[in-house]
Amino acid sequence: MSERVKVTVAVTGGIAAYKAVEVVRQLQDAGFDPHVVMTRAATEFVQPLTFAAITGHKVITSLWSEDAGASGGEMSGIEHINEAQTTAALIVVPATADIIAKFANGIADDFLTTTYLATTAPVIVAPAMNVNMWNHPAVQLNIATLRTRGVHIVEPDSGYLACGMVGGGRLAEESSIVAAVAEALASTGAARTPQPGDLAGETVLVTAGGTREPIDPVRYIGNRSSGKMGYALAAEAHRRGARVILVSAPTSLAAPAGCDRVCVTTAEQMRAAVLERLPDASIVIMAAAVSDYRMAEVASQKLKRDGARTLRLEPTADILHELVERKRPGTFVVGFAAETENVLVNGRAKLARKGVDALVVNDVSGTATGFDSDSNAGVFLTPSQEIELPLAAKTEMSALILDEVAALRAATREPART
Ligand code: CTP
Repeated sequence: MSERVKVTVAVTGGIAAYKAVEVVRQLQDAGFDPHVVMTRAATEFVQPLTFAAITGHKVITSLWSEDAGASGGEMSGIEHINEAQTTAALIVVPATADIIAKFANGIADDFLTTTYLATTAPVIVAPAMNVNMWNHPAVQLNIATLRTRGVHIVEPDSGYLACGMVGGGRLAEESSIVAAVAEALASTGAARTPQPGDLAGETVLVTAGGTREPIDPVRYIGNRSSGKMGYALAAEAHRRGARVILVSAPTSLAAPAGCDRVCVTTAEQMRAAVLERLPDASIVIMAAAVSDYRMAEVASQKLKRDGARTLRLEPTADILHELVERKRPGTFVVGFAAETENVLVNGRAKLARKGVDALVVNDVSGTATGFDSDSNAGVFLTPSQEIELPLAAKTEMSALILDEVAALRAATREPART
C-alpha cells in the first residue's frame, strides 16, 4: 500500500484545464497521491480518461454519477463527504470565476462545491481567466472572502492569455501550485511527522493583533499588525490538544475553531484581559503588537483641522513585563520582538530585559515577512538556544514555534516526575 498523502485535484471548465494534467504529474513527483474531480464544464476541455490513466483512480465528474460508490471499494457512503474527509488537500486548478463565486457564497450544487463545503482540509485555489474578469470587483471581492476564510490563493501570472489579451489571469506556473500545496499541507502537519497532542493538558493564552489607542472619537494610533501570527499560533495550539484563550486586538480574522476568543481594543483592555486570565494559563504567548504609547488625554470631540498640532502621548503599561512579575512559577512565557535593525543583538537584550522564557525575534523591515504578511521568518531565542525559523507561512512558523515550546515544556516537566 502506498504511503503517499491523498490530495484531491478539482478541475473546472477553463481553457487552462489541460494544465491540470501537468499539475497532477508534478504532485505525483512530489510524493502525493492525487485523485481528480472534474466539473461538467471541465470535461468539455479534457477527457476524464486522461486523468484516470495518469492517477490510476476513478475520476469523479458528477454528484449523481451512476458509478458513485462503485470504485473497487475506494469510496463508500455519501461520496462527496467521503472525498471531503479522506483528502489532505483540495486543489482547484484552474479555478474559474464561476467556481470562485460559488465557493465564496456557499453554493453547493455539484460534486466539487459540496466537497468544498464539507472538507476541513486546506483548500488551494489557482484561478485562471480573462484579465478583465480577474480584475472585476466581483471576482476580487470573492477572492478576498475566500482568503479571509483561510483558502490559499495561488495568484495568477501576467502574460498572454488564451483570449488574446495581455495581463493578469494566466494560471500560475504548475510548480508554484505544487509548492503552495506543499506549504499548505506542511502547516497542517499532514506532510511532516504528525504532532501528537503534545500540548494536551496545557492552557495556552495567546495575544494577537495590533492594539488601537483612541485620539478622538474617530481616530486612533494603530500599527500594521494583521493578527495572522497570533491566530495561527492559537489554531495550532488547539490542534495539539491545548485549551486556548485568544486575547485579540482588532483584526479581520475569524475566531479559530475551538479557541476561546476575548476581543479587546486598547493596550489597557488587553492588559486587563491578560492579567485576568493569567492564573489559568500554563503557557503565555504575547504575539500582539501592543501600542507603546497612548494619548495623555483622549479628545472628547473630533479634533478640527487647525494648523500644526502636537499630540501629547504617555507610555502604556508593558503587559509582558507585568505578567512575568505576576505569573505563577512554572508558567512558560514567550514574547515576540519586532525589530527593523540589529535583529539578533536587540532580541538578546530584549529576552533578558523582559525576563521571558523565550523570545521570537522577527525582522519586520521586509515585505515578505512580519506585519500584514502571510509569511514570516525569525529566530527562537532562549537564554541558551538560538533556533532559526526559516521563511515560511505563518501557519508553518507557528508549528515550529510550538515544537520548541512543547519540547521545552516536556524538558522542564521531566525532573518533577523522577
Ligand atoms: N509588549 C507588551 N506591552 C507593551 C509593548 C509590548 O506586552 N506595551 C510585548 C509585545 O506583545 C511583545 C514584546 O512585548 O511580545 C516585545 O514588543 P516590542 O514592541 O518588540 O518591544 P518593546 O518592549 O515595545 O520595545 P521597543 O519597542 O523599544 O523595541
